[in-house]
Amino acid sequence: MTSSRIRAAAASDLDALIDLEFAAFTADRISRRSWHSLIESLSATIIVAEIGGQVAGSAVLLFNQKTSVARVYSLAVSAPARGQGLGARLLESAIEKAERRGLRFVRLETRVDNMTAQRLFETCGFVPFERTATYYEDGTDALRYQRVLPGIGAAGSLQ
Ligand SMILES: CC(C)(COP(=O)(O)OP(=O)(O)OC[C@H]1O[C@@H](n2cnc3c(N)ncnc32)[C@H](O)[C@@H]1OP(=O)(O)O)[C@@H](O)C(=O)NCCC(=O)NCCS
Repeated sequence: MTSSRIRAAAASDLDALIDLEFAAFTADRISRRSWHSLIESLSATIIVAEIGGQVAGSAVLLFNQKTSVARVYSLAVSAPARGQGLGARLLESAIEKAERRGLRFVRLETRVDNMTAQRLFETCGFVPFERTATYYEDGTDALRYQRVLPGIGAAGSLQ
C-alpha cells in the first residue's frame, strides 16, 4: 500500500499546489502570485497531503490577529486520491492548528451544489450557519460552515 502523510507545505511545493488547484477548481482559483504570498505569509498555513511522495491534496488556513476565527481558504484533493480520507485528514490538521493557537472557530465555505464537500464538512464537525448569495464568480451561492473549538478563554491566551 502506498503511504500517505500530512505535512506543512514548503516553497518547493508551489508548482504542485498550483497544478492541484487548477485541476480541482474551474473558477475562483488562487493565482500563482497569491500562492507565492500565502507560502511566505505568517498569517497563513498551508498543509499538504502526500501520497508516495507526491502532493495529492492541500488545505490553506488563514489567521486574522484581530479575531478568534481561522478560515480554511482552500481545500483540494486530486481526483485519483479522493475518497481515501485525505480531505478529512487535511481538515483535522487545520482544526488542530487553529486549536493550538487558542482560536475559537474554524470557518469555511463551499458552493451550495457541492454535496461532497458539504458531507465532508459535516462529518468533520462543521455546522452550516449562513448562506451568502452570488458568492462565486458564476453567481452560485456559498454555504458557510463553522466548527466551534473547545476554547481556552481569550484567543491566544496560551501563547
Ligand atoms: C471535497 C474534497 C476535498 C474531498 O476530498 P477527499 O479526500 O475525497 O475527502 P475524504 O476522502 O476525506 O471524504 C470524501 C468522501 O470519501 C469518503 N471516505 C472517507 N474516507 C474513506 C475511506 N477510507 N475509504 C473510502 N471512502 C472514504 C467519505 O465518507 C466521503 O464520502 P461521501 O462523499 O459519501 O461523503 C475533494 O472532493 C475535492 O478536492 N473536490 C474539489 C474541490 C472542492 O470541492 N473543495 C472543497 C470545497 S471548497
